[in-house]
Amino acid sequence: MNMPTREQIVEIFAKAIDGGYAIPHINHSDYGDLIAIAEAGREAATPIMAAGTPMTTSAMGFKKISVIAHLLAEEGDTPFIIHCDHCPDPELCKQAIDAGYNSVMIDASDKPLDENIAIVKDVVDYAHARGVFVEAEVGHVAHGEGSSWDASVDEAVKLVSATGVDALAIAMGSEHGFYKELPKLNFDLAVQVHEALPNTPLVLHGGSGIPAADVRHAIASGIRKVNVGTDVRCTYVAGLRDAIAEMGIERHTQDIIAFAQARAKEKIFDVIDMCGSRNKA
Ligand code: 13P
Repeated sequence: MNMPTREQIVEIFAKAIDGGYAIPHINHSDYGDLIAIAEAGREAATPIMAAGTPMTTSAMGFKKISVIAHLLAEEGDTPFIIHCDHCPDPELCKQAIDAGYNSVMIDASDKPLDENIAIVKDVVDYAHARGVFVEAEVGHVAHGEGSSWDASVDEAVKLVSATGVDALAIAMGSEHGFYKELPKLNFDLAVQVHEALPNTPLVLHGGSGIPAADVRHAIASGIRKVNVGTDVRCTYVAGLRDAIAEMGIERHTQDIIAFAQARAKEKIFDVIDMCGSRNKA
């Protein structure tokens, strides 16, 4: 492998559902941290998802990310998933799919449910015909000052049955970015959605800064993918800053990047261990 097809990703999540653990999703912001994610997944023998938000993918380009991701996947024998994260536009999801992504998130969670469903269905039809995995979101996980609202069980069931989407992010009290106050996660909601949709992997967004005990509680409540972005990115950037401070600017760029990658990998291993997915590849 090891760039799994949709069928293989469905199988990876089926094993996580049976085993009661979660698949780590880590956002990358450049090539250096993309490589760190692939290496961490391989070294911990876990399936892992490397995800780019529109900020990253518009700057780097789907094709360049996808080509590197395929090369990284070929270097190992653990499943490596390249995921287009929080894509608001079906046409952009289709571009990611055409560029070789094996997973996309179509995020129309800020729209009324019926509109969200129609947009998700369009992407699911396109993606499934091409062997690509799809995630959608119900409720809304905001970033910064935006307002979030929790999912409901009825909405979750309606969206999954109307679209056939493969994984579902449920807004349950988390937010993107670092927290000003610790979030209060709605674990009961995860339990109820998991009971109603036992075969659909549920996704927790906004993982940066959620205490490990709460992430584990969320996984015990039915979460099967944990998304962490800000924490890994800031660790990587702080690693670049510290490397330059310690080594000076005349040191070779590769040494500076390797230092930051090692820092990022430590953080990624923490996420893998919170997810309980080590040695599950
Ligand atoms: P954080 O940046 O808050 O960790 O959120 C990441 C995320 O949910 C990406 O989908």
